[in-house]
This record gives sequence, C-alpha cells and structure tokens, in this order.
Amino acid sequence: MNARRIAATVLAATAGAVMVIWTADRPVPAAQAPVAITLPAQNTAFREAPGVEVARKDCLACHSAEYVTQQPTLSKTAWTNEIVKMRTAYGAPIPDADTDALVAYLVAQNPVPK
Ligand code: HEC
Repeated sequence: MNARRIAATVLAATAGAVMVIWTADRPVPAAQAPVAITLPAQNTAFREAPGVEVARKDCLACHSAEYVTQQPTLSKTAWTNEIVKMRTAYGAPIPDADTDALVAYLVAQNPVPK
C-alpha cells in the first residue's frame, strides 16, 4: 500500500466514524417519528348479482370492490377496455373466458344503486 492509498483509507475510516457519532447523537426529529393512523372503512365486497363470483375471483386481489364500483358509469366497451388494461398494464391474471361475465356484472353494478 502506498502513502496515497494509506491516506485515503485513514480519511475514509475517519469520515465513517464521524458520521456514526454525528447520527447517534442526534434525536429523531418529531416530524419523522412513527405515527398511528386509522384508515377509513372500505367496502371490500362486491354486491350479490349474477357474475359476482367471477368479479371476486378476478378483481379483489389488488383493490377493493368500492374502488371498482365507485368509478363513473361506463359502457360495455369501456369496461371491456378496463379489463384489458388490468391484464396488460398491471398483469392481472384475468382469463379471457371471464370477460363477458365480468362486463355484464360491472355494467349492472355501476353506478351502485343507492
Ligand atoms: C394485478 C392487480 C389488479 C387486478 C387483479 C385488477 N386490477 Fe384494477 N387496477 C390495478 C391497478 C394497479 C390500478 C391503478 C391504481 C392507481 O392508479 O392508483 C387499477 C385500477 C383500476 C380501475 C381505475 C381506473 C383505471 O383504469 O385506473 C378500475 C375501474 C379497475 N382497476 C377495475 C378492475 C376490475 C373490474 C378488475 C377485475 C376484472 C381489476 N381491476 C383487477 C390493478 C389490478
């Protein structure tokens, strides 16, 4: 090891020690302390109707039922495109054979009857 390398090693070790001392002495600022939050209740269940079992199987792995049913009213074509998007953009394992039942269910469920 040459002199330049020794100097670099000593410098790096010193900087590391200084960092450890500096961080250990500093209290965690209140703004970074962990906090507890309560999330609002979510309706995670789809309404009972023909096709509900397909929607449960294909949609609830990634988001709540409410997230789906609170979308604006969509046409059959738009819901079909949504399902294609879930598959292609987000990798949802939705079988092609489920598409018709899903679209019929989603069109009937949206907007959610009050
Ligand atoms: C593999 C995970 C996954 C599955 C399964 C899935 N989605 Fe999604 N979905 C997502 C993601 C990710 C988003 C985007 C969330 C965001 O932007 O915050 C999303 C967003 C949506 C949206 C909001 C509009 C949009 O285009 O972003 C709708 C409506 C939707 N999904 C419907 C469905 C329906 C209906 C099913 C079942 C047929 C389904 N999703 C299944 C991952 C999934």
